[in-house]
Amino acid sequence: MKIDVITIFPEYLAPLSLSLLGKAQSSGIVDIKVHNLRDFTNDNHNTVDDTPYGGGAGMVMLPEVWAQAIDSVIQDGAEIIILTPAGKRFNQKIAAGFSSSTQLIFACGRYEGIDDRIRQYYSQPEFQARNIKVHEASIGDYVLGGGEVAAMVMIEAITRLIPGVLGNPDSLTEESHNAEGYLEYPIFTKPQEWRGISVPEILLSGNHAEIAKWRTQQAQKRAKDNF
Ligand code: ADE
Repeated sequence: MKIDVITIFPEYLAPLSLSLLGKAQSSGIVDIKVHNLRDFTNDNHNTVDDTPYGGGAGMVMLPEVWAQAIDSVIQDGAEIIILTPAGKRFNQKIAAGFSSSTQLIFACGRYEGIDDRIRQYYSQPEFQARNIKVHEASIGDYVLGGGEVAAMVMIEAITRLIPGVLGNPDSLTEESHNAEGYLEYPIFTKPQEWRGISVPEILLSGNHAEIAKWRTQQAQKRAKDNF
């Protein structure tokens, strides 16, 4: 999978080369490139934004600069993901859907966001014919300083679902319930008693059917107790 992240703060994305994602890149499973939006500006000041039509607070990111950046990386079949708190809420199911894509392009907006014509332009029939889709995505109902952290969250959630990225693929099957709305059950390791608190007796019973039943109940309870 090819992943292109476009941002005015490329340094923000440095953690993408760590841990499992770093390994997935060295082994060639994913190819992540971070691009500086300012490399696509057309003036001496490297301007990326201007005031909003119709008035209002803040600045809006310029469509031409974004289009030049996106045009420099876009391939047939690309999913363009515009990060915005006004987007569709990202979840595990959406992550699974994106995990089989050939190219993800993350557009990290800052300020009041990106001129809406970027969404409109890449949604036109000529791009649809090339299987290119545009999405607006939010990682939650809160406002971040920009899309960079949101892009990292999505990239981590998506790439770990690509075969070969996780060391132990069983971790994924265990989690499959999560996608249907369950959270995982509580887990324990050694020692059996720690600071006066014991591991639940059932987990020591060796009765796999009963253990599975207990875990499902606990996961449901956890899901209910969460806000
Ligand atoms: N940019 C600012 N806030 C955001 C959010 N919650 N999700 C995605 N992008 C954002």
